[in-house]
Amino acid sequence: MKKVITAVNHPVLNEYFKKNCPDFLVEREDVKSQEELMELIKMEIPDVLVLNDELPGKHDRKVLIEKIRKIDRYFKIVIIVSLLDQDYKYFLNSKGIFDILVNDNAQISDLVEVVENEGRVVVKIEKEIPKEVKEEIQTLKKLLSEKPKVIEKHVIIEKAPKTQRQEVIAFAGPGGVGKSDMLVQIATLVARISQARILCIDLNTEFPTLDCFFGVSRQPQGIDYFIGKGKDASLNYMIDSIDKERFNSNVFEEMVVKHQKFANLDVLTGNYSLYDCQNTLNNRYYEIILSKAKELYDFIFIDTSSNIFLDSTQFAVTNATRVLFVTEPTLTSIRKTKRMLELFIKVWDVAKIKIQILTNKVNNQSLDKAFVKELLAEFEVCRFIDYNQKHDYCLNNGVPFVIKATEKETEDFKKIVENFNFVEKRRLIDKLFSKKTRIDKKIVEDGGILYVD
Ligand SMILES: Nc1ncnc2c1ncn2[C@@H]1O[C@H](COP(=O)(O)OP(=O)(O)OP(=O)(O)O)[C@@H](O)[C@H]1O
Ligand SMILES: [Mg+2]
Repeated sequence: MKKVITAVNHPVLNEYFKKNCPDFLVEREDVKSQEELMELIKMEIPDVLVLNDELPGKHDRKVLIEKIRKIDRYFKIVIIVSLLDQDYKYFLNSKGIFDILVNDNAQISDLVEVVENEGRVVVKIEKEIPKEVKEEIQTLKKLLSEKPKVIEKHVIIEKAPKTQRQEVIAFAGPGGVGKSDMLVQIATLVARISQARILCIDLNTEFPTLDCFFGVSRQPQGIDYFIGKGKDASLNYMIDSIDKERFNSNVFEEMVVKHQKFANLDVLTGNYSLYDCQNTLNNRYYEIILSKAKELYDFIFIDTSSNIFLDSTQFAVTNATRVLFVTEPTLTSIRKTKRMLELFIKVWDVAKIKIQILTNKVNNQSLDKAFVKELLAEFEVCRFIDYNQKHDYCLNNGVPFVIKATEKETEDFKKIVENFNFVEKRRLIDKLFSKKTRIDKKIVEDGGILYVD
């Protein structure tokens, strides 16, 4: 039995649950104020709280949620909101609230479903009649003046979801500026907010680090044979299977390291053998591996070495659809940046338009932002990321920074990700609702006035 508290300032839901939901233990009356709610959950944490975010009280809606989460961070909250913009949704998600019912058009049956459900659900209900339907009504109105008074019409009201486009994004830049770190934050965010299948390839064939940043093992979980010292990473195993002519999609899936927290995120861990880096690895392998990855994943993030004389760096940068070039706001870093970018464009023939610059580790001693932009005027300097000691803490604990970061600290990464082409996660109720996309509407004309049933 699920212990449920309703705090919606209206008895109807509470009564409905008590009468119709034998699996819900609803001991309390509906809670009518924020103060009453705080007192109650200080005494007992329910399994599920159904909360109206406009519950009367002195706090604004965000403060109220923060106060509730201070008492207990984990219990399930189903929230009914009147408006849901992207910022508010991120805020709710960051507080572990994924069950969101938008506006009072939501049905009680939706609520029951959400409370019963273990998964995360977002409901978005269209309030307005979409433009296409309005136009269709106009046309029909004309027709109706000659035709019979009542007609049946099928109307599609929800647009089909956009399709996921593939992106291959390489992270490049001078040594130690935060290439791997930025890749990990961005890939983790995309994994969190989309259903895209994501692969992070560690193509820093000299000093791979993605396994440390993600907190995953370098050796793929299902592999129990040994192919040599420093060769216990996905990349080496894949190369071994290419040599043995048994490389295929199944082998690929077996040899990537799965992220424990995000089922849609895999890591292709990198070569650790300096001998192999110099003598074995080459573009032929990278080509075979990348082309297989493109069959299997929507987003491929590639980490590179700062060493421009390695084939792997050139391969990643020239095969990417987008290059995120990471730099620091110091004179030496900008100087290296300019030289590396000149090489990318003039020698490697990379289109300028593909390159975006992330200036990382900004602090109060850094070069002025306007000056950095001026120095790199030919390029799009897309974001400045603050220096934050938490990055080292996260690295040393194998947790991506964006998982530990506050909402404000995550903002810049979110802005970067918003430019990518991804389809947002569709949760249970979205899917339920999308079943209703094809709706029979009865259009009735009555004395010149038109109604849609
Ligand atoms: N915004 C930041 N604030 C503070 N520290 C940061 C920030 N970004 C990265 N770091 C730290 O900087 C160090 C270097 O980062 P990282 O390994 O990602 O750099 P890199 O460019 O990939 O280096 P390499 O060239 O060796 O591959 C790490 O200790 C990381 O935690
Ligand atoms: Mg690195």
